[in-house]
Amino acid sequence: MTNLLTLDTLRLQAMETLSAAGITDSEVDAELLIGHVLGLGRGEVQARLILNDLVSDDNARVIRTLVARRAAREPLQHILGVAWFRSLTLEVGPGVFVPRPETEQLAQMAIDALRSLADPSPIGVDLGTGSGAIALAMATEVPHARIFAVEKSAEAMPWTTKNFAHVGGSNATLIQGDLADAFEQLNGTVAVVASNPPYIPTDAVPRDPEVQLHDPHLALYGGDDGLDVVRLVSHTALRLLRSGGALMMEHGELQGEDIRNILITDGWRAPATHRDLLGRDRYTSATRP
Ligand SMILES: C[S@@+](CC[C@H](N)C(=O)[O-])C[C@H]1O[C@@H](n2cnc3c(N)ncnc32)[C@H](O)[C@@H]1O
Repeated sequence: MTNLLTLDTLRLQAMETLSAAGITDSEVDAELLIGHVLGLGRGEVQARLILNDLVSDDNARVIRTLVARRAAREPLQHILGVAWFRSLTLEVGPGVFVPRPETEQLAQMAIDALRSLADPSPIGVDLGTGSGAIALAMATEVPHARIFAVEKSAEAMPWTTKNFAHVGGSNATLIQGDLADAFEQLNGTVAVVASNPPYIPTDAVPRDPEVQLHDPHLALYGGDDGLDVVRLVSHTALRLLRSGGALMMEHGELQGEDIRNILITDGWRAPATHRDLLGRDRYTSATRP
């Protein structure tokens, strides 16, 4: 015989389990996990709650299994298999960095910079593209631009390749390689370089298990002071950008001054640090002389 549980009871049980595991947005996670199993969006789950819907025993069992995985601090996006970034749905899982909401603001800066140009087909580059988030946002939101992206990690590349195939149009090019020597053929022609490089100092291990245990090391750590890859990005962007071209990078909230100093030493014009929506210094831009 099939036992039927109300959706509301199942949701409350899931939220309790997730809260007890230290997950702050337990309501969001519970509803997304339930929706994943039932084939519903979060809004539809909320609508069914009002209707006092019932859940079959089989579905309840699958939902509880996913809730247990999340309670063990597996990233929500790995369980769902996707991460949302601006208007995009990107496939993610073990081996690739899960794109973060604050990076949407970096992408906005890059998109604005590309859109502001009179150039009929400006070139944008994303250094260390991971899931492809910034590059694919640029490519889809500025369709007249030509976008190039590089990723070093062999573990990330299957995800990156899939996302470029599903989301990227003919204006998006992906290569596997080291950002230090990528795209020599574009030297001096690029309008905008965007990057969210690894920037955590090697000995500053993140507290959240989702990050510490599940984000790839190559995506997180940037050497003793966290800025090894930032220095590479500065050199590569100087090489790629045409005069007047713009660089924009994401970084940790205490790194703005150090990064501006690196950029000044490298000869950039007008380095400036910008705040995220929470008022933290998270992005630095500069202009190629
Ligand atoms: C913080 S993640 C950002 C990923 C993506 N851009 C985003 O914002 O979600 C940094 C990415 O840079 C890649 N990476 C690190 N060092 C690199 C290098 N030398 N060349 C190319 N990619 C690199 C990592 O593998 C990782 O995918």
